[in-house]
Amino acid sequence: MDENNTRPDSEQTTAQKTQESVDNGQSENTGKTKKRSGFTSKVGFVLAAAGSAVGLGNIWRFPYLAAKYGGGIFLLTYIALAITFGFVLMVAEIALGRKTGASAINAFKKLNKKWAFLGVLCAIIPIIILPYYSVIGGWVGKYFITFLSGNGHAAAGDNYFNNFIASPWQPLLFFAIFITIAFVIVLFGVEKGVEKTSKILMPALVILTIGVTIYTLTMPGSWEGVKYYLLPDFKKFSIKTVLGALGQLFYSMSLAMGIMITYGSYMKKENKIESSVHQIEVFDTGIAMLSGLMIIPAAYAFSGGSPETLGQGPGLMFVALPKVFDTFGAVGGGILGALFFALVFFAALTSAISLMETVVSIVMDKFKLSRKISSVITYVGTLLLGIPSSLGFGVWSAVSIKGMTILDMFDFLSNSVLMPIVALLTCVFIGFVVRCQTLTDEIELNGRFRWKKFFNVMIKYICPLCIAIILVTSLLDVFGVFNI
Ligand code: PFF
Repeated sequence: MDENNTRPDSEQTTAQKTQESVDNGQSENTGKTKKRSGFTSKVGFVLAAAGSAVGLGNIWRFPYLAAKYGGGIFLLTYIALAITFGFVLMVAEIALGRKTGASAINAFKKLNKKWAFLGVLCAIIPIIILPYYSVIGGWVGKYFITFLSGNGHAAAGDNYFNNFIASPWQPLLFFAIFITIAFVIVLFGVEKGVEKTSKILMPALVILTIGVTIYTLTMPGSWEGVKYYLLPDFKKFSIKTVLGALGQLFYSMSLAMGIMITYGSYMKKENKIESSVHQIEVFDTGIAMLSGLMIIPAAYAFSGGSPETLGQGPGLMFVALPKVFDTFGAVGGGILGALFFALVFFAALTSAISLMETVVSIVMDKFKLSRKISSVITYVGTLLLGIPSSLGFGVWSAVSIKGMTILDMFDFLSNSVLMPIVALLTCVFIGFVVRCQTLTDEIELNGRFRWKKFFNVMIKYICPLCIAIILVTSLLDVFGVFNI
């Protein structure tokens, strides 16, 4: 593949520094049309958007949610939501970005001044996600070092993970290392090198995941896990399954937080939105499904038939996989474990960089500061905001609502409250304020939009209604009004 075809044609990266001063509001304020450079090809667009989408959400979050919410029924719900809600929302966000040529903060404002608040709401979400995302990135870093230093066998021990996250300093230290690496990359503007490297490392991660999955499936007990993961048990279905799957969908596909609007703003008019979205979705969902197929059967294989590890929550990947690597012995397991966690670290880093870019641009835009100063503010702010999430598993474990740790609370706030609200308002905005046709015309600039009718009905009625029901029920549940 021609390298020039796989990245944007300007010198910038991560969706052109994601929002590069969020347009500084200039283009519409001064009437000057600032020239926006774009992705040179459709494949470049798809790879960049998929690069932002694929991260810890796919490898770490999806498998533990699937384990928690009943396996096959979660998978089925997720796929159903991905091809309906996910498709429609991603098409809408990309079309909105391309139509307005602006990132989230300005895109809504450009079409209707009264709706500027929605851009601001979008901007809050990456600010909440980045700190706790980096805490998990730190855990991955810790496991990488553990395997690299030949302590993989210890990591396979039952209490290793819980002892690690409960300790006061270690998780903080690794969190700080992770966010510092992301900060240095953003500060020196060397994301391009990282993106190039990730084009080699991401396929390597997929190949390694397939290899580990095949190996795990030869272990006794693992097929029980496959059954749990793939066969839906309808008795386990509840509105919580839908909320969990919906939040995961937004998170994994980087939806409802303005990211795809920004990516869309850099997409060329001659590229097809509809088919690009199909490709990004297949990529993102494929990697998530594969990760589940690797991790859940592994949890079964080492459980002697009672997979308590499945209830492990955020620790599932960190508990299940070291046991698999350990079967390769000290040297083999060490190499395999170090390689795996290094690749996951890289995937997490590329996503964290794109989140950080977004936050940096927001700070630049809001406070009219230079890129350097904004990066430092973002870095320090993220460090401070991440501390409670990290300590919430140890010294601050007493702080909890409804059994949620501090990290869970941030996760719940962004994925299960704010993102559904943003998605709901985006639908209302498109369906009733600017009208669907504004976007379908944009989508049809280069060919028929086969799902136009479906898109219109989904955006106007089905998506907002379903999201509202799910949101209200889950909030009532959390605040104890009733239990679902
Ligand atoms: N979609 C990413 C994941 O699944 O890990 C998370 C993410 C990355 C969200 C970058 C937003 C973003 F800008």
